[in-house]
Amino acid sequence: MQYDAIHHHSVTEPEAFWAAQAGAISWYQAPQQILSQDDQGFYRWFEGGLLNTCYLALDHQVAQGRGDQVAIYYDSPVTQTFERFTYQEVLTATAQFAGVLRDLGVEKGDRVIIYMPMIPQVMVAMLACARIGAVHSVVFGGFAAHELALRIDDAKPKVVLTASAGVEFDKIIPYAPIVRAGIAEAEHKVDHVVLYQRWFKKAELEETGFLDWTLLQRSARPAECVPVLATDPLYILYTSGTTGKPKGIVRDNGGHAVALRYSMEHIYGAKPGDVFWAASDVGWVVGHSYITYAPLITGCSTVLYEGKPVRTPDAGAFWRVIADYKVNVFFTAPTGFRAVRKEDPEGKFRQLYDIRSLRHLFLAGERCDISTLEWAQQLLDIPVIDHWWQTESGWPMLANPVGIELLPIKPGSAGKPVPGFDIQVLDEGGHPMPDGSEGAVVIKLPLPPGCLPNLWGNPDRFRAGYLDPFPGYYFSGDGGYKDADGYVFITGRMDDVINVAGHRLSTAEMEEIVSAHPAVAECAVVGIEEDLKGQQPVGFVVLKSGVTISDAVLEAELIQMVREKIGPIACFRRAAVVKRLPKTRSGKILRKIMRNIADGKTFAPPSTIEDITVLDEMRDLMGELHIGVAFR
Ligand code: COA
Ligand code: AMP
Repeated sequence: MQYDAIHHHSVTEPEAFWAAQAGAISWYQAPQQILSQDDQGFYRWFEGGLLNTCYLALDHQVAQGRGDQVAIYYDSPVTQTFERFTYQEVLTATAQFAGVLRDLGVEKGDRVIIYMPMIPQVMVAMLACARIGAVHSVVFGGFAAHELALRIDDAKPKVVLTASAGVEFDKIIPYAPIVRAGIAEAEHKVDHVVLYQRWFKKAELEETGFLDWTLLQRSARPAECVPVLATDPLYILYTSGTTGKPKGIVRDNGGHAVALRYSMEHIYGAKPGDVFWAASDVGWVVGHSYITYAPLITGCSTVLYEGKPVRTPDAGAFWRVIADYKVNVFFTAPTGFRAVRKEDPEGKFRQLYDIRSLRHLFLAGERCDISTLEWAQQLLDIPVIDHWWQTESGWPMLANPVGIELLPIKPGSAGKPVPGFDIQVLDEGGHPMPDGSEGAVVIKLPLPPGCLPNLWGNPDRFRAGYLDPFPGYYFSGDGGYKDADGYVFITGRMDDVINVAGHRLSTAEMEEIVSAHPAVAECAVVGIEEDLKGQQPVGFVVLKSGVTISDAVLEAELIQMVREKIGPIACFRRAAVVKRLPKTRSGKILRKIMRNIADGKTFAPPSTIEDITVLDEMRDLMGELHIGVAFR
């Protein structure tokens, strides 16, 4: 069957479609109901089914004869460590570490926070939680102690898992002080912290009370898989929303396993035994789904890469890894390719490696500009596929489903709706937009398996943010349009979320921090276009009257405050003092207009604007300070 027929079947008969897909994974007990609604009215998949995600990823693969196959290629150019671990080896380590967690009192349903760099132990930690039915929450290493504290207070973990250090290019980042500060700031008190000592940077454990990972693991008895319900949570992954408080996206076990297994073969065209590389970080959803779970559940070998696209050591890093492990499917963010192109525009490094194993390149996480897509296409001479998804969905919603059929590629579009997703573009009143006209990108309920069933401990926010804006639909937060062939073009967020180097950040959260500075009366942080990272946050601040502080000192202090609270990953590097902000007569700050000025886009100021002359002031200031692509 070809794409159109499969997609049609998936959205008109979702229960029959997903019942068939559920047969591709191994259950302890088959689901009693394929689709149901819980007592809050939220859709749930595979109710009554019993399974274990770690079992699917490891034990089942070994039982199928994959014990000696490489499960993880660990490639760390920053530490010059290159290792490979078979399925049997990962299973042994995971069962043992699951025993460590169990001995520390972690039980089914308990939460465990993981704040670790890209080392094999982080995957073992995630899988060990899954093995005993504990709920992990991985926090990206680029976040500061405050962000960790927010997540500790929301998830209320029994245990925090960490390592002594991460490496960013040639910079060593000690993790223990960040974990200590996060724990000290959080109100919730964790029972234990377990730390993995890396050879090049040891943490002083005695004064911290942290436990040594390796010592505990050495003496632990392995733990068996604990069957969990399909609807039980596997993990919580926090993502930025439109307030300062991150949202805990919940992923269940059953829908997740079925959706990921389906996506590997039908979207990515990957089969058991293939080598799959997602060059991301386990702290992001791409890392959860396509570094850890999907490749292992499918019996592929996954690549865990602790390096960057460039300068580790050069712009040939991608091609070197693909050649070394004979990668078949490669997935990364457009920023990674932009970084390579900037350093090696003619693609000279690519000629040094044999990358004939590579069948497809997938790009996601941010808007993919056409010139990057075409550059990659020319360089690699394979299909380069832009596809669209979110932390909330956990797997692609728009794509070119190469495992079903390779559809014609339309640069600028993230493809067609993936089977299971009935994607529509609506106006503010909920009416379908004509082809070519921009509106809100929504998905008709029910969402397919694998997508978030709820927010952790916050059903009201789930309802208000995702379900209430367009009754009967899930609101993605993105704007976009469809063309006459059914391709969807994503044009960007409709809210205060921005995307910097494929990393999702909240400008509202940055505004909260900036406005806490004693000199600042009010401020707006907007995400403006940037060549390498796609977007960059810039703060515009109005001073309190009577305050005297130099612009340069204030800018440096604000940059430091955001770095300390959110972390270096916020990439907040510009702040400008303005006399006033553009506002409507009712006092609403016109952030979109500021963005448009910086990006050099034409726009019609709203009739409700308080004073139109403020726009010229903004334009002059941005020109003077070279803020935005329009003023370079
Ligand atoms: N732990 C600690 N700090 C981290 C970190 C981590 N895991 N990841 C990033 N940071 C820090 C960086 O060191 C940098 O700090 P600095 O301000 O002290 O230099 C800051 O956060 C910003 O990092 P980044 O945006 O990654 O910029 P960069 O200049 O270090 O690297 C690229 C630029 C293009 C090489 C890099 O952004 C990249 O590899 N992008 C691809 C993105 C990607 O794969 N996204 C996947 C999402 S699907
Ligand atoms: P995250 O939850 O971090 O994965 O970020 C999700 C957001 O990234 C989406 O809501 C989009 O705004 C953006 N995004 C992801 N993939 C694409 C894509 N292919 N094209 C355009 N925007 C994308």
